[in-house]
Amino acid sequence: MSITLKYQLKSFEKLPVKIYADSREGSIHIAKSIALAIRQKQQDGEKIVLGLATGSSPIKVYDELVRLHKEEQLSFKNVITFNLDEYYPMRPEAPQSYVRFMHEYLFDHIDIPRENIHIPDGTIAIEDIDAYCQQYEKRIDQYGGIDIQLLGIGRTGHIGFNEPGSWESSLTRMVRLDSLTRMDAIKDFSNEETVPYRAITMGIASIMKARTVYLMAWGAHKAHIIKEAIEGEITSSIPATFLQNHPNTKVYADTPASTELTRIKTPWLAGICNWDEDLVCKAVVWLSQKTNKPILKLTEEDYSENHLSDMIIEYDFAYNINIKVFNRLQHTITGWPGGKPNADDSNRPERSVPAKKRVILFSPHPDDDVISMGATFERLVEQGHEVHVAYQTSGNIAVHDHDARRFLEFFQEYSHAIGLEHPETEKLIKKSMKFFTTKGKDGNESDEIRMAKGFIRRGEARAGARFSGLKDDQIHFLDLPFYETGRSRKKPIGEDDYRIIMDLMEQVKPHQIFAAGDLADPHGTHRVCLDGILEACKRLSDRPWMKDCWLWLYRGAWHEYTIDEIEMAVPISPKQLEHKRRAIFMHQSQKDRPPFPGEDNREFWQRAEDRNRETARLYRSLGLAEYEAIEAFKRWHFK
Ligand code: F6R
Repeated sequence: MSITLKYQLKSFEKLPVKIYADSREGSIHIAKSIALAIRQKQQDGEKIVLGLATGSSPIKVYDELVRLHKEEQLSFKNVITFNLDEYYPMRPEAPQSYVRFMHEYLFDHIDIPRENIHIPDGTIAIEDIDAYCQQYEKRIDQYGGIDIQLLGIGRTGHIGFNEPGSWESSLTRMVRLDSLTRMDAIKDFSNEETVPYRAITMGIASIMKARTVYLMAWGAHKAHIIKEAIEGEITSSIPATFLQNHPNTKVYADTPASTELTRIKTPWLAGICNWDEDLVCKAVVWLSQKTNKPILKLTEEDYSENHLSDMIIEYDFAYNINIKVFNRLQHTITGWPGGKPNADDSNRPERSVPAKKRVILFSPHPDDDVISMGATFERLVEQGHEVHVAYQTSGNIAVHDHDARRFLEFFQEYSHAIGLEHPETEKLIKKSMKFFTTKGKDGNESDEIRMAKGFIRRGEARAGARFSGLKDDQIHFLDLPFYETGRSRKKPIGEDDYRIIMDLMEQVKPHQIFAAGDLADPHGTHRVCLDGILEACKRLSDRPWMKDCWLWLYRGAWHEYTIDEIEMAVPISPKQLEHKRRAIFMHQSQKDRPPFPGEDNREFWQRAEDRNRETARLYRSLGLAEYEAIEAFKRWHFK
């Protein structure tokens, strides 16, 4: 069900938007609409033309279409498809090709006639590209044009691979990829150098000719760009804004992707609000930042000049609101993340009993624990709680070949030196060395190399956890199977993964769980790891210890919760911050330039410090105490 609007709105939105609680619900809705259209055309004995996208956005739509085919007899015999784009150059059988993507996620599981499938060909000779593109465009027209076009949106605002600067009249053609888009694509390639610079894409005009367009945006990392696409002026620097000129485009977003929309972020600017405590807090923090005044200095005039007079009417005086919100924020601050023993805990984020808690800190990758909550981790250990850290995935795809090679060479030399070489091991090492020197073409590394990479990360994680004060028997490597594909495209999380997480929880019986609460990319490892924990908690909900278990979420490497969302703020002294940095330094394979740097050029320790310092700065600017840095958490309330 889509979320009903709590507010009466003045619309800033130039395209109709439906917001869903999660990407699954939204995707199922889209798949159902497509299925309905296919069936209607079948009844009329007609064909239907679908324009298809790749990337993470349509995956759950394809999953649902496959389910409808298998379980509800949806046939694709009358379906013609045209894919938006393909990298250039690209062999169809390469792991990163969109041909392979489409077959793996959709075509191999449905009854579409092979001759009905059209995907731009990444092997066309460069001199034939223009003619090929014209032919592609003509083909679409010959089939009567696209009935339903599925679109994702890139962080540059691209649709298809129409990057900023694309013309509204552009048709299918060869384009150069934006550097941000190439950066985002690194996750599918073995390294930055192998990401293609070019692609063949349908143009803006090709997309605009479609009769219906569904634009999807799932995850917090899409929040900024989707706001621009929906509320911004039409401009070629954000090609998705051209859709505002399309007569029948619908936008589907999940809650995290909708957070920047005016009606969600600052609903008081969009209309009348139903004020509850959370919304009041959000508005006051916003007002304080907007006026550059600490909360306790905000006046009636500040409120009324900034569209917040109806809030004053409900609370009588500005000062009443100010003090209420100030106290709420003040109470989030604690140096006792496991609860303060023998203290009145009525206004503290954590319970004081039991004084010594059993804690599991889940870390999706081997370094998220120290990056995201290194200082809190140390405090929990210092304050005598029984802390267990659980590394959920091996993180083995994020190690450079040169690092793996160095370790294998060490292993070889050392075993020679102590006279322990073995012919079988020698053979394996030789094979790996050959791979390192000839590598690059297909990028399919052996299980042994991947294992070595996993062990490198294990060693680093162990060093970081020990540095944070943990004993070895409290360090757990879960190596969840969903992650072990050797590629950035993972398997869906399943029973084996749940069992491993549940076993650890049954063993520890935690009072507190800390987990990465990233709601960014719904297919990203952090999100999948959180889903695994939530499922495990659900399945264990009848255990007596579960009734007394609190789940705290921390955010991943660079995002942070907004101030009004934070429920526990753990201050960090300058010395503790330095110590945290050293724990992050233990992750040597991720230093300088990790294989998957993401959207940010800073190293992980820099991102962590900037983010923790920024939270402290924001607290200070609101008129609260001044700290060097702060780590922030939000509690997950089980339903
Ligand atoms: C894919 C395509 C791109 C993606 C966009 C979003 O065929 O044309 O425009 O839709 O880059 O990618 P994801 O969905 O992976 O976030």
